[in-house]
Amino acid sequence: MAHHDDLIAKDILGYLTAQENKSFLRFITCGSVDDGKSTLIGRLLYDSKLIYEDQLATIEKDSKKSGTQGDKIDLALLVDGLAAEREQGITIDVAYRFFSTDKRKFIVADTPGHVQYTRNMATGASTADVAVLLIDARYGVQEQTRRHAYIVSLLGVKHVVVAINKMDLNGFDQSVFNNIEVDFRNFAKDLGFTDITCVPMSALDGDNVTVRGTQSDWYKGPTLLEYLEDVDVASATQDAPFRLPVQWVNRPNLDFRGFSGTVASGEISVGDHIIVTPSGKRSKVKEIVTYNGNLKTAREDQAVTITLTDEIDISRGDIICKVDNPAPQADQFQAHLLWMSESALFPGRQYLIKTTNKTVPGSITTLKHKVDINDFSEVSAKTLELNEIGIANIGLSAPIGFDAYNDNRKTGNFIVIDKQTNETVGVGMLDYALRRASNVVWQDLDVNKTVRAAQKNQKPAVLWFTGLSGSGKSTIANMVEKRLLDLGRHTYTLDGDNVRHGLNRDLGFTKEDRVENIRRIGEVAKLMVDAGLITIASFISPYRAERQLARSLVEDGEFVEVFVNTPLEVAEKRDVKGLYAKARAGEIKNFTGIDSEYQAPESPEIVIDTVKMSPDDAAEMIVAYLSVKGFLDGTA
Ligand code: ADX
Repeated sequence: MAHHDDLIAKDILGYLTAQENKSFLRFITCGSVDDGKSTLIGRLLYDSKLIYEDQLATIEKDSKKSGTQGDKIDLALLVDGLAAEREQGITIDVAYRFFSTDKRKFIVADTPGHVQYTRNMATGASTADVAVLLIDARYGVQEQTRRHAYIVSLLGVKHVVVAINKMDLNGFDQSVFNNIEVDFRNFAKDLGFTDITCVPMSALDGDNVTVRGTQSDWYKGPTLLEYLEDVDVASATQDAPFRLPVQWVNRPNLDFRGFSGTVASGEISVGDHIIVTPSGKRSKVKEIVTYNGNLKTAREDQAVTITLTDEIDISRGDIICKVDNPAPQADQFQAHLLWMSESALFPGRQYLIKTTNKTVPGSITTLKHKVDINDFSEVSAKTLELNEIGIANIGLSAPIGFDAYNDNRKTGNFIVIDKQTNETVGVGMLDYALRRASNVVWQDLDVNKTVRAAQKNQKPAVLWFTGLSGSGKSTIANMVEKRLLDLGRHTYTLDGDNVRHGLNRDLGFTKEDRVENIRRIGEVAKLMVDAGLITIASFISPYRAERQLARSLVEDGEFVEVFVNTPLEVAEKRDVKGLYAKARAGEIKNFTGIDSEYQAPESPEIVIDTVKMSPDDAAEMIVAYLSVKGFLDGTA
């Protein structure tokens, strides 16, 4: 290693002790390669002498060959070289680089600025104490600067350094610096930063990065490194209430039952009274077990296993708290949401919502508005696209313990996962619980589904027909309903005619509208099942996710998916309503099968091949299925 500290050579133990006692500072750099981000990080690593000799030799060689800086060392090559190495391995979105000085140890989250940068920024910023925002002095505050500042503030970063870079290109002109500083402070005044420090610098030449520049005598503030070494970032959660999100229920044998996890905030001691959220169960701490022996007290960031004096039920994702300050629990929230996926957010679609150690199905029930990053104004929106930020209500299928993100970054954040692809599509910050929904207590009526179904001598169900327009869904569905009526059963059919003209009159055929169309129909079908009816739904319902949602709303076995499988060519040739011709002529947009997707079911209960089977035969087969499965039995 290019010699770092004389202590290493002379007194290795002294060196190690000094290292151990140094505090850690985590920071994130935001900006693009063009702003000089790679050069800045390269400069910090280089000047702190934490570069291996061979790496240094390589860059010196490469700088001459392919660098962009003439005879000077191109420090960007160091960082970009590491980035290239990284890309060959597993794709990790954020590279954490370590360096240290005599005063402090540093972890810098380097987030590549490609299209999905919100994902990387969110990952890097959620644990950062300080954000370094790079600005190219030639261009001043840009839209990207505003977006970055907004995102880091949203993620709870309180300290900001504005690195006004490339000042060498204007001869360190003080007025340029002053104008940018005023501009930035003006726009960031409501973002809740506790301090903003602007530093004029040249990452390329090193001015005011680690050493004071010779051309900026007018600048009296700290260099970037001085700032990073001195900034006071005592943990905001150190004095916060105790939270242990349970990661694992540890039960190696019948005599031991412990709850393992990393303390998210606060501290706990043996003998303390605890309460578990969301269950509300109580007990007392018996032992605090760690890999290195038992503790009397456990603090933030320690990985521990807690045993209790009572046998109470605790599962993964529950939060253990102290009785005097329990985490609230709720299943409906307002939240800030940052969208990270190229496929847009669909309000109403079911996603998986993952908070610390707990994953539950849930949906964005209402997108209240998105945020215009230029002036932070609220803009009404039906969806969020990649990198957009919005305020939304979310609803979960089960209550969770949580804190507002403002109070606790670890227990107040969540990610949104696409159920089909398993991809993380969004990240969110909980603002507060919505009391409204949890105040609605479902009346425990004496007249219930079982009673209603028994009265009708049947077992309620949803018969869900899906398929292309003109595939024959409605024809077959009608025949099925007539047959059931003949058999004295109680039915109701939901189809485009009675739904799109009434309940869903406000919806068209965009992706968002179709998602919402099927969500509402799913809810109505659920109510009809509760009424004891055999409910027939006949809709294109092109997306797997929404059909899955409709299925999940009723009990196991109550949902019968009927795939009316008619190839596009056949449906188009039949063209009963003449709509395919219009769609081909461009008169109807977003037409399923033409310029809008249809996702065929993967494991439907029934598949009807309308090329081979007549509608009559199909209807007979479906009724036979219902009979065999006991739906037509009175004793259901
Ligand atoms: S769904 O996609 O949201 O499930 P739904 O079944 O309610 O669609 O409505 C489909 C019917 O609306 C079609 O059978 C057709 O008659 C009519 N329609 C009008 N415009 C379109 C379109 N762009 N795509 C598909 N169907 C359309």
